[in-house]
Amino acid sequence: MSDEENGIEKLPGVGPATAEKLREAGYTTMMSIAVESPKNLADLCEIGEAVATKVIAAAKKAADIGGFETGDIVMERREKVGKLTTCSKALNSLMGGGFETQSITEMFGEFGSGKTQIAHQCAVSVQMKEKDGGLDGDVIIIDTENTFRPERIIQMADALDMDSKEVLSRIHVARAFNSHHQMLLAEKAKELAEEFKVRLLIVDSLTSHFRAEYVGRGTLADRQQKLNRHMHDLLRFGDLNNSVILVTNQVSAKPDAFFGDPTRPIGGHIVGHTATFRLYLRKSKGGKRIVRLIDSPNLPEAEAVITVDEKGIRD
Ligand code: GTP
Ligand code: MG
Repeated sequence: MSDEENGIEKLPGVGPATAEKLREAGYTTMMSIAVESPKNLADLCEIGEAVATKVIAAAKKAADIGGFETGDIVMERREKVGKLTTCSKALNSLMGGGFETQSITEMFGEFGSGKTQIAHQCAVSVQMKEKDGGLDGDVIIIDTENTFRPERIIQMADALDMDSKEVLSRIHVARAFNSHHQMLLAEKAKELAEEFKVRLLIVDSLTSHFRAEYVGRGTLADRQQKLNRHMHDLLRFGDLNNSVILVTNQVSAKPDAFFGDPTRPIGGHIVGHTATFRLYLRKSKGGKRIVRLIDSPNLPEAEAVITVDEKGIRD
C-alpha cells in the first residue's frame, strides 16, 4: 500500500470500510477523489452526499491539484523541451527534430510493426550526449509483455560505438504483471528519478494488460478511468523530469468486433487526448516500416519511412 493510499483513511468521514470501497472503485489517490462529483462518489461508495462533499473538499486540499501559472513560466518550461533522436533522420524530422520531452508519444500498430524496436533504440540514443541528439540520461522501462531484450541493446549500442555495458547499466527495467502493478510502477518511477537523471520513460505496452483484464463493454468505463489516471501520472512524470514518455499500443491488422477499426487503437479517446503525439506504424516491403504522425498540436500529418535491422532504427 502506498503512502498516498494510506492518506485516504485520514480524510475526515472516511473510515476503513469507506476507504476500502473507495479503493475498490479505483479511487486510490487524493487527486482521483478531488476531481469526482459528490453524487458519483456517494453512489459508488454508498455514503451520503453530504459526507461525499466533505470527503471531496478535504481531498482537494490534500491533493496537489496544481494551479494557474503565468505564460512566462510556461514559456520557461517549454524552452527546456528537449528532442530525442530516433536514429532515423526521416522519423526525427517527422517529429520536428525528435521525440519531445514533457510529452507523451504513443506508437500504435500491429504486431511486428516496430514499436518495441523503436523503444529499444531510444533507450540507447537517450544516453548519447545532447550534441549528438541524445539527452544524456537514464531510462526506465515498464515492460508488460516481457519483450525487453538486453542482447538487442548491446547490438544497438555497438552500432553507435557506445560502451554497451554502461548503456545497459543506465536502463532500469521492471516487469509489470498486471495493470494495477503497471500503475504502481509508474508511481515508483518517481522515486527512481530522484536518484537518477531519467530522461526517458517507456511503457511497452501501455494497453495490453488493460485489454486483457477489462473484457466486455460493461467494464469500459472503469478501464478508461484507470487508463486516464495512468496517462496523467506519466505526463506528470514527463513534466517534472523533463523526460520523453514513450508508450506502445497494439492494434490488430484485421477489423475487430470489439475494438473496431484497426487504425483506432484501444484506449480510444482517453489515450488519444492525453498523448501529445500519436504515431501509426505499419509494415512495408523489405523490412521497411511506415510511420504516420496522426495527431500533433503543432506539426502537419505526414509519413516517414524507416528500416529496422541489426543496428537498430535507420533511414
Ligand atoms: P508487438 O509487440 O507484437 O505488438 O510488435 P512490435 O510492434 O513491438 O514489433 P517489434 O518492434 O518487436 O518488431 C519486431 C520486428 O522487428 C521483427 O519481426 C523484425 O522484422 C524486426 N527486427 C527485430 N530485430 C531485428 C534484427 O536484429 N534485425 C532485423 N533485420 N530485424 C529485426
Ligand atoms: Mg512489442
